[in-house]
Amino acid sequence: MGVLQLKNLSYDYITKAGKVHALKEATATFESGIVYAIVGRSGSGKSTLMSLMAGLDVPKAGEIFYRGESLHSLDRDKFRREHIGMIFQSYYLLPQLTAVENVELSLELAKYRGDKRKRAEEMLTLVGIKREQFKKRSTQFSGGEQQRIAVARAIATNPEIILADEPTGNLDNENSMNVVSILIDLAHKYGKCVIIITHAAEVAERADVVFKMDDGILFTQ
Ligand SMILES: Nc1ncnc2c1ncn2[C@@H]1O[C@H](COP(=O)(O)OP(=O)(O)OP(=O)(O)O)[C@@H](O)[C@H]1O
Ligand SMILES: [Mg+2]
Repeated sequence: MGVLQLKNLSYDYITKAGKVHALKEATATFESGIVYAIVGRSGSGKSTLMSLMAGLDVPKAGEIFYRGESLHSLDRDKFRREHIGMIFQSYYLLPQLTAVENVELSLELAKYRGDKRKRAEEMLTLVGIKREQFKKRSTQFSGGEQQRIAVARAIATNPEIILADEPTGNLDNENSMNVVSILIDLAHKYGKCVIIITHAAEVAERADVVFKMDDGILFTQ
């Protein structure tokens, strides 16, 4: 069944110049414990696909199933809050907050019931941020560290699915590999379904499964 299943998903943008067919009948199954890479040229529809999988947008045709249940019948915001963790190329940490506060905020927004500070500290430790750095403002970290904090934030609520759109796009090779290793661990050690959109061959190489997109078509083999 898979944790996330896409059936004939299509999406188009309406522009002044006409319709852009950004996604054409994408069908795929994503399983827990597996790292997927989605590769493809700029404009091929990768981010469009990701925003549908995250429940941020609604497909124009086709359906998404979460553990066999159609997103049509689920509350999309609740689905995203409970089951999806997102990571982006530009980390989107709040600059006025410390590392630990950035992670705590996401727990707050998700109405996390446990000890938020404790959970945030555990997550930062998991991604390799040292305790003495927890109270430093997020702007005072390096790019690689900021992305690791963003990963801590994405996984704090223990989502089953991690969606990462070019997570290493702003990082040098060493930091890229570091972030990818964390993402791989999330799948292989913690059973998450990890989906990484990437242009980097060395990132795609480390995924268990590589899907390719070309001109709105998703190739799953
Ligand atoms: N908001 C929008 N309005 C109109 N067209 C859009 C919009 N967003 C994306 N598109 C178009 O849809 C297509 C797919 O875009 P998308 O952003 O999904 O590609 P991508 O594979 O993520 O590209 P990149 O690798 O550059 O991030 C492109 O032709 C793009 O121009
Ligand atoms: Mg994109």
